Amino acid sequence: MISSTRAHQLRGAKHVVVFTGAGASAESGIPTFRDALTGLWEHFDPAKLATSDAYRDDPALCWGWYEWRRHKVVKAQPNEAHRAIADLAKRVPKLTVVTQNVDDLHERAGSQDVIHLHGSLHSPRCIDCGKAYTLPFTPEALPEDGSRIDPPRCTACHGYVRPGVVWFGEMLPEDAWSAGLAAAEECDVFLSIGTSGVVYPAAELPLRALGHGATVVHINPVRFDISGREHFLQGPASVLMQGLLSEAFGDLSAQ
Ligand code: OAD
Repeated sequence: MISSTRAHQLRGAKHVVVFTGAGASAESGIPTFRDALTGLWEHFDPAKLATSDAYRDDPALCWGWYEWRRHKVVKAQPNEAHRAIADLAKRVPKLTVVTQNVDDLHERAGSQDVIHLHGSLHSPRCIDCGKAYTLPFTPEALPEDGSRIDPPRCTACHGYVRPGVVWFGEMLPEDAWSAGLAAAEECDVFLSIGTSGVVYPAAELPLRALGHGATVVHINPVRFDISGREHFLQGPASVLMQGLLSEAFGDLSAQ
């Protein structure tokens, strides 16, 4: 049994926000950032790969690294956590998915109108004029990590194309941030899944939800400190989300 109180709250909710971090995609084989041993920032220096200065200093190194990550995502499949989240949308009056992830696994599992706070690996644009650039779908050409690949050039101004992700020191996309904040402040249940909650302003959303009276539940295999008003379900997202849905809504296969 997961937690009959949480299942009961989920069943009675009018608006649920699902807020995801890298842990939601971990079971699809996409590395997180801060997990000991396997996290990307354990092996790569964000100062050399995830700032606009780094990109201008060494575009081929940065572009190669994001292409490596993009191809990993293209080859990955959504996992049971992504599927349970998409399924939850059919069972509650309103569901908003807000993600810090730059993959498209929520969408491929069937979630709609996903709010991407940190942009997407799949929406590159010109670093100079901002024009969107269409990338080829080439999963067979998975580059090794550390590969240097010259970025494509913008078809309008010939500037370098950059990944469509938010780098350190950059603002979040304004429309995504305001939509995420509005949902956090309006919802009655806020599920925070697979995030270390250390990167702001995204990490502010559970606190905003709590401040506006929502039930806030963290789902994570690794326990961390929370306030006495929040709740923690410890374990992998796939197991806990399937368990929570089946406790809240009964036999899922029958619906
Ligand atoms: P982190 O790598 O900081 O945290 C991932 C969390 O997922 C950790 O707390 C893990 O314990 C947890 N986790 C691992 N496996 C899991 C599983 N199977 N089920 C559930 N949870 C699991 O990733 P984020 O919190 O997403 O920013 O990091 C936030 C931001 O920092 C990222 O969006 C990225 C990074 O720098 C940008 O790229 C702008």
